[in-house]
Amino acid sequence: MTKEEILKKHKQYLFPSVFTYYTDPLVTDHASMQHLWDVEGKKYLDFFGGIVTISVGHANPRITGKIKAQIDKLQHASTVFPNEAIVAIAEKLAQIAPGEISQTYFTNSGTEANEMAIQVARMYTGSYEVMALRHGYSGRSLLAQSLTAHSTWRKSLPVANSGVVHAMNPYCYRCPLGKTYPSCEVACAKDMEAVIQTSTSGQIAALIAEPIQGVGGFITPPKEYFKMVFKIVKDYGGLFISDEVQTGWGRTGKRWFGIEQWEVTPDIITSAKGLGNGVPVGVTMTRPEIAASFKGLQISTFGGNPVTSVAAKATIELIEEDHLMDNAATVGAYYRDGLESLQKKHDLVGDVRGMGLMQALEFVKNRTTKEPAPQETNQFMEECRKRGLLVGKGGLFGNVIRTSPPLIITKGDVDEAIKIMDEALVAISPALAGAGKR
Ligand SMILES: Cc1ncc(COP(=O)(O)O)c(C=O)c1O
Repeated sequence: MTKEEILKKHKQYLFPSVFTYYTDPLVTDHASMQHLWDVEGKKYLDFFGGIVTISVGHANPRITGKIKAQIDKLQHASTVFPNEAIVAIAEKLAQIAPGEISQTYFTNSGTEANEMAIQVARMYTGSYEVMALRHGYSGRSLLAQSLTAHSTWRKSLPVANSGVVHAMNPYCYRCPLGKTYPSCEVACAKDMEAVIQTSTSGQIAALIAEPIQGVGGFITPPKEYFKMVFKIVKDYGGLFISDEVQTGWGRTGKRWFGIEQWEVTPDIITSAKGLGNGVPVGVTMTRPEIAASFKGLQISTFGGNPVTSVAAKATIELIEEDHLMDNAATVGAYYRDGLESLQKKHDLVGDVRGMGLMQALEFVKNRTTKEPAPQETNQFMEECRKRGLLVGKGGLFGNVIRTSPPLIITKGDVDEAIKIMDEALVAISPALAGAGKR
């Protein structure tokens, strides 16, 4: 099919809600490690990795080789028949999970992982109400949309009460309390207690939170934040669910899970995306006594499918063997320096944030008013694309550039990306370039 035919059929046969990036959508053809090619043969350095999903490189032969072997051996039999692939990945997850987390429920996506986490938290605690954070994203089912706190992603919600209440998030660049860290003494964390006291029955099932809010625009909390809210959640009987769909599997550097950066041990971890390096796998991981509280039967036909299980285990092993969590920290720090140099040079870049190889730029029209710059964000993406770099977007106002390259990238790749970003910024704001205004 030609590019035009693909785009025509995409429009004709898919739901229009399946949105695409760019005014002239990029039609993919093939990819290898940190590079992706479109159907017209143009090569791109991929700094978005299929939405924070390609952990160890596109079509990495060390993963695909194992997938192919498993497909030829046993592709599917369902969870009613135990097999080696599912227990091997489950054992591996138990080895790397923090605290006493040692049992996993397998699904196909982050959305399902979060559904399961909330269901089991409600059964374990006997409480119904769930806390979540503003600007959070939890997925696209009705419950996950209720947990999500971006109006854009909540359009199909029924009016019925879902039992979810949102507290302030630790968005330092746009502090919900108008304060500045550290003199604020992380006052936003105290909002958790006030909301529980005023908007719930006082007994909660859980707090679900992302260690760094992904879709929200890589909103990175102050280091004290999660310790403070963890204590509050415990005081009111809740479980702490760490949504590691974006922050898991070494992306933040040095540690497997983002929440470990904040020195908190969660009760439940949910994840998906980067675990399978592109195959659909979701996990809800917890302690045995919490897992045991699930009442009734449950089935996920494809959950823990042998092919996805093999892919997930191979991904974790490759991250270990090639020390990619260290690479995420080292190359991530180098990348961060480059992004901060762009901030010094270009007024459009209001904030740089993130951790490891999860780094974002928030674009503002004016650094004093912090008026979001969504049009410029789109233009920046177009200019990067022209020059052969793929980046993602996020943020409540659509003004945050999200980058999450595969953990295998080198400093050379970073140099190339920073050069392209610099040129893109010059192209969209020629008057500001080099002015050094802050
Ligand atoms: C933090 C977080 N949780 C959950 C989800 C939902 O995952 P999925 O799209 O696999 O259903 C996402 C997806 O972007 C996410 O970023």
